[in-house]
Amino acid sequence: MNREYLVELDRVDKAFVTRHFFHIDEDTRTRRIYNRRLVRAADAITFGIRPGEIFGLLGPNGAGKTTTVKMVSGLVRPDAGAVYVDGMHVEKKRKKVLRKVGVVLEGTRTSMWPLTPLENLMYYGNLKDVRGKVLRDRAHELLDFIGLKEKKNVQVRRLSRGQKQKLAICIALIADPLVLLLDEPTTGLDVQSSRAIKDKILELTRQQGRSVLVTTHDMHVAQELCDRIGIINKGKLIACKPTAELLDLFSGHVFVFKLDRAPDPARVRTVPGVLDCTVEQSNDGPALVLRVTDEPAQRSEGFYRVIELLREGGFQLRSLTQRQQNLESVFLQLTGEIVEERPEYTGEE
Ligand SMILES: Nc1ncnc2c1ncn2[C@@H]1O[C@H](COP(=O)(O)OP(=O)(O)O)[C@@H](O)[C@H]1O
Ligand SMILES: [Mg+2]
Repeated sequence: MNREYLVELDRVDKAFVTRHFFHIDEDTRTRRIYNRRLVRAADAITFGIRPGEIFGLLGPNGAGKTTTVKMVSGLVRPDAGAVYVDGMHVEKKRKKVLRKVGVVLEGTRTSMWPLTPLENLMYYGNLKDVRGKVLRDRAHELLDFIGLKEKKNVQVRRLSRGQKQKLAICIALIADPLVLLLDEPTTGLDVQSSRAIKDKILELTRQQGRSVLVTTHDMHVAQELCDRIGIINKGKLIACKPTAELLDLFSGHVFVFKLDRAPDPARVRTVPGVLDCTVEQSNDGPALVLRVTDEPAQRSEGFYRVIELLREGGFQLRSLTQRQQNLESVFLQLTGEIVEERPEYTGEE
């Protein structure tokens, strides 16, 4: 255990058995199981979050983000490894840990829709042993802070999606937790609500010294909010770095040369100004993916040299495009694989 961290995961594993059904078997007219598969949702996950830090867990659907959040909040028990919050083992000190953690799970209906935001906060506060004047004051403060002041006495069912999400964050904060866990906090929100929520998350951490774990499949959200980012894929943490370092790793410009056949990328990598080079197969043939330096003169020289190499090799150049760096291209560079989404768990089939 590392005292530097408020939240720590130490080689945490979690696997699920998933079942897929044939909807209808034409011969017997029955549903039958055709596949039982072990899915690794967490595979030796290790990372820590410091006090006052926003840590982002970035990965495609089915990567294991929600499972990780649930393990930190004690909702899912790891198969192996340990999770600590404020130095306490989550399984052994469950009750105490729950007092320190506030969680907003993705797309869950946390709030009760026939009640108002204020009533919701009073209800959840009571559940968490926050009472009386302290509770009332905090409920009002939170609603003011998040921008729901005008809506505090309106039934939740009349609120917009963004407003419901804001309320869910207030509910998570009602017992004044040390750690806030936000699972895909801006997914499905319009630009404006998304912006407001991101600003509030930043404020919460910067001004109130809380630690926040944010999951997202959107690289921009991670980039904008997080001090450090862990990239997760198929249950494995494949990178974990301060945001600036991660961005450095993926700086430069990426260009895609569509060709009639695949060249040897090792040869191209030796060209000055070329940072990295891989060959991808697409539907319309092979493509040389070139990452070149930001430095203009060297980049220009690099380009000319690569084009010369391709011409000398007798390759036919079909097209040349620039690629935006995004989660997709970052993945490709880290894993050499195209992002593969796994089905998200939506409950029992
Ligand atoms: N309770 C569960 N039962 C069976 N499979 C599950 C369960 N929870 C998650 N999974 C599977 O584990 C993998 C990771 O899921 P999840 O953590 O929800 O990913 P993410 O939040 O990154 O989209 C997925 O393949 C998902 O189908
Ligand atoms: Mg999820």
